[in-house]
Amino acid sequence: MRVTLAQISIPLLVVALHVSYVAAVKDYLFKNCENSGFCHRNKHYADQISSLGSEYKSDYSIDANSVEVISGPDKFFIQGQIVKVLPNLPEEKVVLPLKISVLEGNNIRIQVDEAKREAINIANKFINHQRYNETSNWAFVNQELQYVKTEDADLKKSDTKFSITYGKSKEYVAELEFYPIKLTVYHLGEAQVVVNDRGFLNVEHWRPKDANADHLSPQESDFNMFQDDFKDSKEDSLPLGPESIGLDFTFKNFRNLYGIPEHADTLNLKDTTESNNPYRLFNVDIFEYETDSRLPMYGSIPLLLAVKPALSVGLFWINSADTFINVDKSNSTKDSKTHWVSENGVIDFIILIGSTPAEINKNYGAITGYTQLPPLFSLGYHQCRWNYNDEKDVLDINSLMDQHQIPYDTIWLDIEYTDSKKYFTWQEDKFPDPEGMLKELDLTGRNLVVIIDPHIKTGYDVSNQLEKKKICMNDPSNSSYHGHCWPGESVWIDTLNPSSQSFWDSKFSWDKKNKFTGGESTNLHLWNDMNEPSVFNGPETSSPKDNLHYGGWEHRSVHNIYGLSFHEATFNSLVKRLDGHTRERPFVLTRSYFAGSQRTAAMWTGDNMSKWEYLKISIPMILTSNVVGMPFSGADVGGFFGNPSKELLTRWYQTGIWYPFFRAHAHIDSRRREPWVPGEPYTSVIREALNLRYSLLPVFYTAFYESSTNGSPIMKPIFYESLNNLESYSIEDQFFIGSSGLMVKPVTDENANDITIYIPDTEIYYDFTNGDLSKVGWYNVRKPGYIRKDVTLHDIPVLIKGGHIIARKERYRRSTKLMANDPYTIVVALDKYGHAEGNIYIDDGESFGYSTSGESINVHIKYSKDGLTAHVNGSNKEYINSLGNIGIEKIIIISPFKLIIENPKLKINSDWSIQIILDIEHDEL
Ligand code: GLC
Repeated sequence: MRVTLAQISIPLLVVALHVSYVAAVKDYLFKNCENSGFCHRNKHYADQISSLGSEYKSDYSIDANSVEVISGPDKFFIQGQIVKVLPNLPEEKVVLPLKISVLEGNNIRIQVDEAKREAINIANKFINHQRYNETSNWAFVNQELQYVKTEDADLKKSDTKFSITYGKSKEYVAELEFYPIKLTVYHLGEAQVVVNDRGFLNVEHWRPKDANADHLSPQESDFNMFQDDFKDSKEDSLPLGPESIGLDFTFKNFRNLYGIPEHADTLNLKDTTESNNPYRLFNVDIFEYETDSRLPMYGSIPLLLAVKPALSVGLFWINSADTFINVDKSNSTKDSKTHWVSENGVIDFIILIGSTPAEINKNYGAITGYTQLPPLFSLGYHQCRWNYNDEKDVLDINSLMDQHQIPYDTIWLDIEYTDSKKYFTWQEDKFPDPEGMLKELDLTGRNLVVIIDPHIKTGYDVSNQLEKKKICMNDPSNSSYHGHCWPGESVWIDTLNPSSQSFWDSKFSWDKKNKFTGGESTNLHLWNDMNEPSVFNGPETSSPKDNLHYGGWEHRSVHNIYGLSFHEATFNSLVKRLDGHTRERPFVLTRSYFAGSQRTAAMWTGDNMSKWEYLKISIPMILTSNVVGMPFSGADVGGFFGNPSKELLTRWYQTGIWYPFFRAHAHIDSRRREPWVPGEPYTSVIREALNLRYSLLPVFYTAFYESSTNGSPIMKPIFYESLNNLESYSIEDQFFIGSSGLMVKPVTDENANDITIYIPDTEIYYDFTNGDLSKVGWYNVRKPGYIRKDVTLHDIPVLIKGGHIIARKERYRRSTKLMANDPYTIVVALDKYGHAEGNIYIDDGESFGYSTSGESINVHIKYSKDGLTAHVNGSNKEYINSLGNIGIEKIIIISPFKLIIENPKLKINSDWSIQIILDIEHDEL
């Protein structure tokens, strides 16, 4: 095949415009730093030290004699002792064991514990009085981290400091000064991170209450050390007294910080010094949350990324207790200074360094695991509301979807499906035949997701068994804790207890008689909500901090991992249930999460509102989640509370189709709002948006596959592709989808007639608005800046960046399953040099065959001056042959002109090449 197009050159277009966005701040009845004992004390301490400046003589030092290298075939670390002197008790010293290890991937891990806690004599014999050090057991994918061996790291020790040189070309040096304690990590001789730069290291060691005064240094405050004055926490017995840890980290020459979700706030982290309103990580059911807020939300991922053009740094703070992070960008240096304080636990953190944020994502994923490769159906559209009332309602919605030609994959049942909120039961009169309902849905490849929360109503067999087996969260007297949630009085399963797993498994068993799971149905999946845990009558709507978990750990220590332990148990049970059946991959949605949750669940941003500002904030919130390794994320389309206008609902669908997890949901008091409800023209516009999502499922699935192997974001901030352009670092209303080159700027303003799109570099961008390539429009700017586009209600502004190749499936089908054998259309978008390439990942979308027997292919397609070639990578011949009936029905090549090759008679599972000569002269820009 040979095609020649006329010689052309590319015109230039630059339009510079600016958009800004300001939202209101409102406080809730949650603790802030001032009224939280440990945060208040650490802030006071830090302020005192700062004001003393060089006059301050730290109480902490490293005992030079204690520092030694421990080395063996599979372990290598440096150990030593931090010694804390007590100014009022010169005879007593607090010993804090220190461990430093270098991990594969240029990561360095520091751990600090407190010795002598064995000697603690406290009244409550049920409490484990050690500092909690098991957060990493939940967060890490593999407990055996890959440590760098002695021979690969150069060590140097003197009386005053210790240094380790590491990295492939020995480009990193970590230098630990003994007094004052300071750890500096250098890259190619330049300091990048300085730990304890400002001397805020603080470990509140154990002391008897009556001797407290002697244990305080002059810089310390004793605010709320043994009691809690916060109005809903007055009953906290604080049995171990003050236990907090604090440490400061300076990021040298970094002004752009990201991560530490979950907050309804900007993508680029804010300076929090002036408002004294630090970011808080404490999983809570935050009712009617507001935007522009550092208040805690449902999940926590204590990973912060600092990014600059040539280098990125990650700080992973491995602690599951209540945590505040103060960010100071206001200082006169070019540095960002941060101060981290946690209520208790050990100091344990990893510093990751790489040349790009993507490298940090990869290294962080090697530690905590990559996102699950979800079942393909879960990337389709999810229809949810609180509630679909009965079987008829569910099946009516199911057929109305078809009548209105709306593709969808999953219908959801909220808490009302149960008999009186007793999980694992059905409200029999409304759902007499769950198995029949599941079968009916299955006819068109559809799925059902039902909700199961961790609070279990008292007085029926499930809670009775939990109490009998002693696998509940306990109160301080070690009896099962009773609190209130949706069902009224409830107990909470303690999924930190290993015995909980087999009990949970039994509830999801593969058994004809298991009515809850619809007998032997394979299209039932799970939603885990309220797992912060939400306790309606608890302090800050959660569990009392002095409740007890397995191992005698106070809830205080494990609070932020409880949600993860719960959804992970559900996932494990479902894997066992589906094992050996065709659709083996379960889907679980969780509201609460922690580092590591990406391995087993998707998340959503909880109870937002049907207001434009919540549509807007959903984008930076989901981008943040993607930046910290939790890409399978979404927001309730339409807004949870309230009733969106028809325009807002439509715009939300047009935005929601880009969320990795795409679900419409609504509160029980909200009016019905399924896609056909708003009527024309809205229904058609929503249908077009849904069709666009479905047509791009190969792009989303490929992005998930990539993320499941390297941690890359699926909804990806613009700056990932333009690290040299600092202006792009704060763009948060526009994003790429994986590595596809699709760059989206959803319309999130009411009555919008036009929109500005930021072009971050000088590559060619082709107009892909609404996925429509019928008109070839392109932009090629000399200098990054904004372009303006007119928009109507129909328009979803998208550009595709030159140099990329994507695959689409263009036929309307009722569900993803029914698309399995549909042919592909290949879109080739040439860059300014006339090149392009891309990948398509394909597997059966539902089994683990891709990992157990190589049942997958990766098709690499490349365009160069010789034409277009495809190469199929895959190891399983039988699987590759099984894809033989899937064709390529069209190839569209877009350059400043467009070329369509109809029915090229090619198959997706074989190598091919087509000679195409496009005679285009490109400007050298
Ligand atoms: C919580 C969830 C919400 C759900 C409701 C009832 O508020 O965030 O999505 O509909 O509980 O289960």
